[in-house]
Formats: sequence, structure tokens, C-alpha cells
Amino acid sequence: IPVQPFDLVVFGGTGDLSRRKILPALFRRVMAGQCPEGSRIIGASRSKLTADEFREMVRKSINEFVPAKEFKAADLEAFLLMVEYCAVDAFSDAGWTKLADTLSMGDNAIRTFYLSISPTLITPTTRQMASFKLITHETRVVVEKPLGTDLDSAKSLNKTLKDVFEERQIYRIDHYLGKETVQNLMALRFANVLLEPLWNSKYVDHVQITVAETVSVDGRGEYYDLSGAMRDMVQNHLMQLLCLVAMEPPSRFDADAVRDEKLKVIRALEPVSMRNTVRGQYRSEGEIASFLDHVGNSASNTESYVALKAEIGNWRWAGVPFYLRTGKALKKRVSEITLVFKPVPHSIFDDSNEGFQNKLIIRLQPEEGITLHMSVKEPGPGGMRLTEVPLDMSFADVVPEGVTIDAYERLIMDAVRGNQTLFMRGDEVEAAWAWVDHIIAQWDASSSKPHSYDQGSTGPEDAIALLARDARRWQPMGET
Ligand code: BG6
Repeated sequence: IPVQPFDLVVFGGTGDLSRRKILPALFRRVMAGQCPEGSRIIGASRSKLTADEFREMVRKSINEFVPAKEFKAADLEAFLLMVEYCAVDAFSDAGWTKLADTLSMGDNAIRTFYLSISPTLITPTTRQMASFKLITHETRVVVEKPLGTDLDSAKSLNKTLKDVFEERQIYRIDHYLGKETVQNLMALRFANVLLEPLWNSKYVDHVQITVAETVSVDGRGEYYDLSGAMRDMVQNHLMQLLCLVAMEPPSRFDADAVRDEKLKVIRALEPVSMRNTVRGQYRSEGEIASFLDHVGNSASNTESYVALKAEIGNWRWAGVPFYLRTGKALKKRVSEITLVFKPVPHSIFDDSNEGFQNKLIIRLQPEEGITLHMSVKEPGPGGMRLTEVPLDMSFADVVPEGVTIDAYERLIMDAVRGNQTLFMRGDEVEAAWAWVDHIIAQWDASSSKPHSYDQGSTGPEDAIALLARDARRWQPMGET
């Protein structure tokens, strides 16, 4: 969809997220011809830079974070012509008049304000935006994690935003929703007739959602010690994936219809008892430091790994556990969703493959794709022996090179265009915190500690036991 010229203001424009993600994403979309002439990208932060100094910083970021083969020198020069800078101070009036004067005028001027700033700056910044009358009818504000650290702080963030913006103007990013395969999950479910009849407790035995990372928390220990895997990953990314798997078909692919259905799933989640959770911390490995070293707190109870069994109390999913796990310093970087189906009700083959269960694996990363495990006859003359084959659909094979776009690129352009479908609504974020808070409160009240696990493993042994108790096993990480 063509967009009209817009102003995009990046508060925190000189920060890490802006340099690594936001500016490279904008550069790619400009090259793709999606930002009409007259659009501007305005960096705003406290640093007293001139516009030229900021452009130099942008130049460096693009050279560092966008592979050289993707662009020509002239592309970068053209991009820099769109870039402006205003030094503003959230706690005083300094710089705000200049920012107001820099923005394009008119009530229908599209203004997107990206708040890539620390949570403590959000209230003063949005207040100044209101008092300097920067907010037009066509203004959107983009906010990033952390969207609170518990229900109370999430409510107060929502209140801060709603004091100056309408909900239709607020874009809460969960970058997982911008991933190609996450949207493909919706296409798979709602643009095909084959799966829907099977997508319920009659045929699905259980669901597994794994987001495993090989990186440790080295370099961001201070943040991570306050957060932990539950707040950093489960409350947002894993719960969003769970919602997309579990939700009812929305009546339309529009923002409120989709978000209403996701909210119903979150509200239907049963409270999780401590017995159905496993926390872990990676231990040191020879020279490699442990989680406790990385967070610089030997008494920390924060988890670098969490596994849990979630249950959804509604007709579609009653009795179907959703096992979630995520952690740092694990064996592989892999994000995938597996639906394990029930065995056939009656087996007519006298074969060792008895008890076989169909599996549908949706791989988000790396190598996005979908695999369906089927039972077939083993080829050859050996009689009616069964074997398991994966039916594989790798997106890399069907999508021409250069067509896939990064989650940030998609989400920023959706915000500019005013499409909220892939963003979280305030009530959704609050409901997710309410569910997560209950789990964290039990951990805090208990004297038990997270289990330690080897770096490069699949996590603590107890996570295996969590499924073994139900006579189930985790899908091997990243092996389809
Ligand atoms: C972020 C978390 O939201 O997501 C990080 O704060 C995590 O801890 C990251 O590493 C994972 O994102 P991706 O896209 O690399 O899977």
C-alpha cells in the first residue's frame, strides 16, 4: 500500500536499538521505495548534536549493520538527505519548539513517534509532546519492551500513554509478531481448510513452544537480573505465539478482531501452579562465566531458563497442555512450535511404529518452514512395515531471495500506515502480566532456587521431568 509522506521521530535516536535495528530497517524500506519523497526521519535525543553530526552517526550505523552488498553509496546518500536531528530534553522545554517547527504541518500530517527510550523517560516525554502540541489526528506512538515489569507498572504505563494518546494511536511492539513465519502461522490456520478440523482437543495431544538461544546474558546482566526469562521472553514473545496457535478464527484480519481473540485466550489461561514450572540458571563451563557471574549477583534467584505447562480452560483446548520453554546459553538457536497429534484410535498394522503421533512443526528461526511428520509404508519388499517421513516446506525454497523482510521493517511500516494488527493492545498486555505475576509471586514466596544447567545443553533435567511426568517428551531442539 503506498503511504503518503510522513515524519518519523526517533526519540533515543542515538541509542543502541536505533542504531542496530530502527535506522537499518528504515534504510531498507526507503530503498524498497516505500517511503515517498518528502518523508523525514528525525532523530531526537538529549545529545547536543548538529544534524550533520547525527547524519554521520546514521552513516556509521548503516555501514555497520547493513551488509555492504545490499546497497550502493548513492542509496545511503539519498537516505541521509531525509535525516534531520533535534536535541530535546524530556525534563525541560529545551529543544521542543525546534522539534515542533521541524515537523510537517497539517492535522492529517502523518507523524510517527518511536519511543526508543528508557521507561523512566516515557512519562516526561509524552507530556512534553502534548504540551508542545505535537500530536495530530494522524499521530502514532510506538513503544517497545519492557511494557512494564508487572501488572501494576503495565497499568501505569498504559495510563501514561492514554493520558495523551488514543488507543488507536498506540503501537506496542512485540518483534515476534513481525516475524515472517509468525504471520504464516495465521495464513496456515486461516487460509487453509485442512487443519482447522484437527486443531482442537479431539486430535491434538499437546503443543510445545520452544524459543532457545545460544547467547548468554553477558553484557546485559544488570537488566537481565531484574527481568529473567519469564518477564523477558514468556510474558511477551512466547505468550503471543501461544495466542496465535490457540485463538479462535477472527471474523476479519483487522486489528481489533485479531486482538479480541488473542485476549480471550490469555483470559482463558488457567493459573499455573509452581509444580508446573521449572527455572534454571546456566553454570560456569571451564573459563566461561556462569549466569550468576554475568549478572554479578551470587545470590540471584533470577532464571535464565524457564519451562512451564500451561492449560487453556475453554472447549477447544481443555485437556491439551501447552508446554513452553525458553532459555539462554542453550545448545541451539531455535524457535519453533510443535503440535503433537494423538495416535490413531485403532492400529491395524502389526508394527513397531505403533503409537506413532503425527507432528506439525512450525519453525520460526532459523530456516523458516513447516514440517509435517507422517507415517508411511517403508519402501521395498519387506511387507507392511511403517516408517516416519517429514513432509517439508522450507520457505527459503519458495520465497525468492531478497523478498523476506526483517520484523522491524514490517512493524515500523505498519505503524506508519496505521495498521495495528501486529501490535499488542493495552488490555492484552495487562492480561498477560496478570497471568505471569501469579507465577512469579509463587517463585518469590518459595525458598527453592533455580536448577543449574550446562551451557550448550537443552536446559535443566527437571524440564525433561516436567513432560516425562505426563508420559511425554520434548521435541529434540531444532531437529525436524
Ligand atoms: C528480546 C529479548 O526481546 O528478544 C532478548 O529481550 C532476546 O533477551 C531476543 O535475545 C530474542 O529475539 P530473536 O528475534 O533473536 O529471537
